[in-house]
Amino acid sequence: MASVHVATTVNGDVTEFVCQPGETLLDVLRNRLGLTGAKEGCGTGDCGACSVTVDGQLVCSCLVLGAEAEGRKIGTIEGLADGDTLHPLQTQFINHAALQCGICTPGFLVAAKALLDRNSSPTEEEVRFALAGNLCRCTGYDKIVRAVNAAAKDVRKQQARVKKAAGKRR
Ligand code: FES
Ligand code: FES
Repeated sequence: MASVHVATTVNGDVTEFVCQPGETLLDVLRNRLGLTGAKEGCGTGDCGACSVTVDGQLVCSCLVLGAEAEGRKIGTIEGLADGDTLHPLQTQFINHAALQCGICTPGFLVAAKALLDRNSSPTEEEVRFALAGNLCRCTGYDKIVRAVNAAAKDVRKQQARVKKAAGKRR
C-alpha cells in the first residue's frame, strides 16, 4: 500500500513523517518519531495510556491514524516540561507520590493538562470526571486527584503572576 506523507506540528515543532495509511498515531509517535512517552496499554481506547492532544483536544492516539495528524497540532507528554523546568503537574505528581510503576502516568499528565488548560479551578468531581478515561492499576487514584488539585493551585498562582507582570508593563 502507498505510504502517506504527513506534515504536522508536534509539541510546537514542525514535523514531517511518512507512514502507512493504517498506522496509528501512537505507533508513529513511538516508532517513527522516537516519542515513547505515550504508552500502549490496550490499543482499543479503554485505558488512556496513549493520551495525546490533537489541536488541544484529548484523544487516545491508539484510535487516531498517523495520517490524521496532517496540518494538526499534536501535544505529547514530551512537550509538558519547559526545558529543565517541570510542569506543576509533574512536580505535584512527584510530591504526592501519585505514581508507582509509571506506565499510566504520561496519559494521566496529558489528560490533566488538557483539563487545566480549559479549567484551572476544577472541583474534585471535575478532576475525577476528566480523568475517568485513564486507568491506573497501582495508585488507587486518590493521590493522582490530590496531585492535580495541588497543580491547579500552582497554575493559578503562575497565571496571577503573569497577569500582574503584564499589568506593570502597560
Ligand atoms: S492504548 Fe490507547 S486507550 Fe489504551
Ligand atoms: S502507576 Fe502503575 S498503572 Fe498507574
